[in-house]
Amino acid sequence: MVGLKIAVLSDLHVGDPGPIEARRSEIADVLLLRAIHRINRYLHPDLTVLLGDLLDDGQAPEADRWRRTIRETLDLLDTPVVVLPGNHDGDIDAFYRDFPRPPSAFTLNGVRFLVFFDPEEPGWNARRTEQDIRRLAGERRAHAGPLVSLQHVPLFPPGRATCPYNLVNSPEVLRALRGPGISLTLSGHEHKGMQLFRQDRLFFAATPALCEVPFRFWMITIGDDGKDVSVHDERLRMPDELRLFDGHVHTRFAYCGENMVVSRAVSLARDFGLAGLGFAEHSAHLYWNRQDCGRGAYAEPGVRIPAGKHLRAEDYFAAIEPALGPQVVPGLEADLTYAGELVLRPKDRARCRLLLAAVHRLPELQTPNPDLDKAADEFLHIVSRALSAGVDVLAHPFRVFRRSRQPIPEKLYAPTVRLLREHGVAAEINYHTNEPPEAFVRLCLDAGVRLAFGSDSHNLYEVGEFRPHLALLERCGVPPSDLSEILRPGGPG
Ligand SMILES: [Fe+2]
Ligand SMILES: [Fe+2]
Ligand SMILES: [Fe+2]
Repeated sequence: MVGLKIAVLSDLHVGDPGPIEARRSEIADVLLLRAIHRINRYLHPDLTVLLGDLLDDGQAPEADRWRRTIRETLDLLDTPVVVLPGNHDGDIDAFYRDFPRPPSAFTLNGVRFLVFFDPEEPGWNARRTEQDIRRLAGERRAHAGPLVSLQHVPLFPPGRATCPYNLVNSPEVLRALRGPGISLTLSGHEHKGMQLFRQDRLFFAATPALCEVPFRFWMITIGDDGKDVSVHDERLRMPDELRLFDGHVHTRFAYCGENMVVSRAVSLARDFGLAGLGFAEHSAHLYWNRQDCGRGAYAEPGVRIPAGKHLRAEDYFAAIEPALGPQVVPGLEADLTYAGELVLRPKDRARCRLLLAAVHRLPELQTPNPDLDKAADEFLHIVSRALSAGVDVLAHPFRVFRRSRQPIPEKLYAPTVRLLREHGVAAEINYHTNEPPEAFVRLCLDAGVRLAFGSDSHNLYEVGEFRPHLALLERCGVPPSDLSEILRPGGPG
């Protein structure tokens, strides 16, 4: 059995902002983190490859720190990883002090991979050494299956692509590549990318730069028969024309928050192609301390919000204030008591232009062996009261069951849809530690219930990551042209 799927990323150019505006060095760490999470959760390749220019300046005083940050992110990958340096990465030995040095050749699923460090030539070209050409020819003769040549500067037949960079001795290298099986040369360096093309049994491609809009990387598949290669383009930026709105972004006031900074969330939302965002902090986190929140002190019916402890609510609204505008709206993710009351001071409610209600706890699910019928009844009781209180969105419907490691009672779908429709509340699509049930989303669509996209960002890389949301609606047969009708693109209203 031959064949495999490779995630290929190139030209991150992590570093300080440089003179070339298109090169978004200053957010490249976030781009990489987002790509790695997308790869792990949705793409599942056999191998991940980075084809050089990880740093914008490998000689900079900060280079060690940047390399370590990248290394920590790559350590999150579920797949094996191969990392190559590019012409911006500086000294190869310094580079490989922070990254695992790949073997010069290895085989995975019947595919032979060869790694090359081609010395630089003028004009941002490169040359393959005589020794490496002999190595390549020997490998090609010895292996009948697919062979992949990995390098930073592209390698292709001169005149066959508009890419201005090549190996200066590419004709000689390509002769060494001809053999019994298919060969693929996989490169980076050309930030625009070089579309996959073939000539006989040779395939050529250069992955576009991750650091340039729309922040692309590629999934490359070598077919099971070992005779074909295909590319799927992944973009971290959402399609601008969809004018997507992220109505669920947290701040540093969430006890579960990681690295949220209001100004950065707003600028990243713009970079990721969103039309706007809504901050939606947990109301209970603003009124209770971490410990009391953890034990659900806010959930007792008729609970009184502790007097004199509203400092965090004041601080939260003060922190988001400078960012607010037509595209950025203030909101809250209101916790609910077991009686379905919103845990919310009237004063804070009046400050919100976007109000989410979220079921984070059910009494029955706090018991060791919960009775799911009872939990379902509690859920409906809480939701029916909360939705009649004038909220805009029901956050992550049913996630409370998943968090308690219980199956979602599917009998809840139809009555929840009825309540949403009756009160004109949108159902949130939310993938943060969650998998929205498709059957429920289909019922919402059939009933004309509006949907809302929420990233539930606790980390900056998550802002506006709507790949799974869009894929879900596509599976449900929603054409992109209908999205604005179904979603609330501008937030509430
Ligand atoms: Fe580059
Ligand atoms: Fe380069
Ligand atoms: Fe949330």
